[in-house]
Amino acid sequence: MNLEGRVAFVTGAAQGIGRAIALALAEVGANIAGGDVNLELMDATAKEIEGLGRNAMAVKLDVSDPASVKEAVGKVLEAWQKIDILVNNAGITKDALALRMKREDWDRVLRVNLDGTFHCIQAILPGMVKQRSGRIISIASVVAQAGNPGQANYIASKAGIIGLTKAVASEVGSRGITVNAVAPGFIATAMTEKLPEPVKERMMNLIPLGRMGTDKDIAHGVRFLASDESAYITGHVLNINGGMYMQ
Ligand SMILES: NC(=O)c1ccc[n+]([C@@H]2O[C@H](COP(=O)([O-])OP(=O)(O)OC[C@H]3O[C@@H](n4cnc5c(N)ncnc54)[C@H](O)[C@@H]3O)[C@@H](O)[C@H]2O)c1
Repeated sequence: MNLEGRVAFVTGAAQGIGRAIALALAEVGANIAGGDVNLELMDATAKEIEGLGRNAMAVKLDVSDPASVKEAVGKVLEAWQKIDILVNNAGITKDALALRMKREDWDRVLRVNLDGTFHCIQAILPGMVKQRSGRIISIASVVAQAGNPGQANYIASKAGIIGLTKAVASEVGSRGITVNAVAPGFIATAMTEKLPEPVKERMMNLIPLGRMGTDKDIAHGVRFLASDESAYITGHVLNINGGMYMQ
């Protein structure tokens, strides 16, 4: 796999799965623009990427705000003239049972996860269309397929990402652009660290491979979908879940 000379824009790349994706793409040659609300941590990740011998740029980004997305994408295009790979990874949870969910928590999760993905696609797609090539990979979740109590907002946003992926894939296939989603299972990151022990235990019992996934498990799938080797795959949802949900 060789991504030398490619530019990847990875959202939420300061930590967790996004950071692992940025490093995995850099390992095979890509230069990385990482966007995150946490610029301090994003700077640290950019330094790690530079340590691999690639160019890295850390940009302040709130994917829920179209103006922030436009500004961040503009900075990257000004510096590097193109974006070949977009990874929509930034995401949040605000869990509660649907009956008790606060309207603002519903809105915020939809704004960041689903609208944020749309904002980035809309900002970056014109350049990809012009160069008649591109890779868009968005991070969904196993719960969008299997359901899970307490996550109506999150699940609606991730199911929305799968629909958005298929819609855009069918619109831009003729321009040499592939659009896919990755649906991670139960992955050891800060997001799952905060779950109560009984919930973690229940999840573990559902995984035939008998372990939580790692951020690298997800990064390797994203890297494949970003590479030339996946050229004939579009509108696909790649499950990386240890068998937690089988389709
Ligand atoms: N951890 C899991 O088990 C799991 C499972 C399925 C899907 N996912 C998805 O994978 C992605 C990464 O999750 P993670 O576990 O690494 O989470 P994480 O909380 O460790 O990292 C998320 C990153 O996104 C950034 N971010 C949050 N809001 C943002 C915004 N508005 N704009 C820009 N950046 C923002 C955060 O600062 C952070 O760096 C998310 O989309 C998540 O929904 C995670």
